[in-house]
Amino acid sequence: PKVIAVVPAAGIGSRMKAECPKQYLPLADSCILAVTLDVLLSHPAIDEVFVALNADDQFFAQLPQAQHPKLHQVIGGAERVDSVIAALKQIDDAVSWALVHDAARPCLTHADIDKLLASREQYPQGAILAAPVRDTMKRARKDGCIDTTVPRDALWHALTPQFFPTATLLPALEQAVQAGVNVTDEASAMEWAGVAPGLVSGRADNIKVTHPDDLPLAALYLAHHRS
Ligand code: CTP
Ligand code: MG
Repeated sequence: PKVIAVVPAAGIGSRMKAECPKQYLPLADSCILAVTLDVLLSHPAIDEVFVALNADDQFFAQLPQAQHPKLHQVIGGAERVDSVIAALKQIDDAVSWALVHDAARPCLTHADIDKLLASREQYPQGAILAAPVRDTMKRARKDGCIDTTVPRDALWHALTPQFFPTATLLPALEQAVQAGVNVTDEASAMEWAGVAPGLVSGRADNIKVTHPDDLPLAALYLAHHRS
């Protein structure tokens, strides 16, 4: 079946407190979004890439990737989930699978994409890249002191890409939003729909650039991957 990448890139990056949306901040001789798109566009198993952009976007047209024959632009929405829904609505092939990946995660490797794509046999309902939690986890009381230690073995960081059949993903996202669920990733909508997505162990350095101190880390990880 066809595999389509969906890249939500319509956010404003408020926590980054930069002059421009964070996906356009410089990274490795280009910018975060360009690095992310290159990883997806250069993967042989990804047929097409749909990027969701802010309606006011003034930067994307300048990227060399803007003219790539595998790339399609769509206008995103108010929340991340709205941007993903907008992109999925452009994909009419009912038999395809969507690989949804944050623009703000430029350190994704082809090896992790391969691992997730291969998980389709084990998890026909879909799966996500995730990383086991490393620190001891505490649940806080209202007063800021520790209530209890939460067993770590069952806890994972949800990463992207998240990989689902489009025929089930789009209705799950739309219905979860309609029901008022806080849909912060694709898996949360699938969970709400009664599906248990697979957890595929991925690299912990596939970080989401969120705060200013994440950017030098991403640059370091990228340089390390490329060395
Ligand atoms: N995103 C999107 N549409 C939105 C909001 C976010 O496509 N309405 C995208 C972002 O561009 C980013 C990804 O979703 O690639 C993850 O979101 P996040 O890290 O929260 O980015 P921002 O929303 O831009 O940042 P912030 O929450 O700090 O404002
Ligand atoms: Mg956000």
